[in-house]
Amino acid sequence: MKKRVAVLISGRGSNMSALLDAAEAPDYPASIALVLSNRPDAAGLARAADAGVATAVVDHRAFGTKARRYADGRDAFDAAVERALTDADVDVVCLAGFMRLFGAAFAERWKGRILNIHPTLLPAFPGLHVHRRMIEAGVKIAGCTVHFVVPETDAGPIVGQAALAVRPSDDEESLAARILALEHQLYPRCLELVANGRARLASGDVTEFADALVDAEGALVNPVSG
Ligand code: GRF
Repeated sequence: MKKRVAVLISGRGSNMSALLDAAEAPDYPASIALVLSNRPDAAGLARAADAGVATAVVDHRAFGTKARRYADGRDAFDAAVERALTDADVDVVCLAGFMRLFGAAFAERWKGRILNIHPTLLPAFPGLHVHRRMIEAGVKIAGCTVHFVVPETDAGPIVGQAALAVRPSDDEESLAARILALEHQLYPRCLELVANGRARLASGDVTEFADALVDAEGALVNPVSG
């Protein structure tokens, strides 16, 4: 039985597209049941609709983001997203460039069933503007990470990583583009591992792999060259 997946986006949705493409394979263990965006103008929504996938918008602006009302607003936003996920009978959630933070209760409810992708080798460089920060820091190895979501942002047990060598000529844009190409390989592979149960969140908040091969190679994407 394929796992029913919701992909949550805020913009371009290129990782969402990679997941949609992967899920077309008959033996892929997940199907994309829903693409949900907090922004009605997210470009990825049109691609999902074109592919015949159900879409939903939960516009965060409808819930108030002023400091005083933020906590209430976020709970209501989280509840609206939760309803959409329940309506679509979703088993697994993939955050893919989703620019809203959920409250701890939401993360707790989906624990072990919610993944995120981040364009650095976590735990290095959580947060925003990471490509610029990596260039400024002079890192020589960069990459991306798929991890289980925990209440802290860009943290959580790692499912898989992909790495590349930073070129002396790299700037923020070129580095972002090359990491993005790796993201598109890594996310479908990690979702596959979670959907077929070969990677799971075990007690003690560690990712447990079903066999040594997955641990050694299956959760790692190694480009031929940087
Ligand atoms: C990706 O770099 C992802 O790692 C980060 O946000 C970006 C989303 O890009 N979380 P896209 O919308 O998937 O093209």
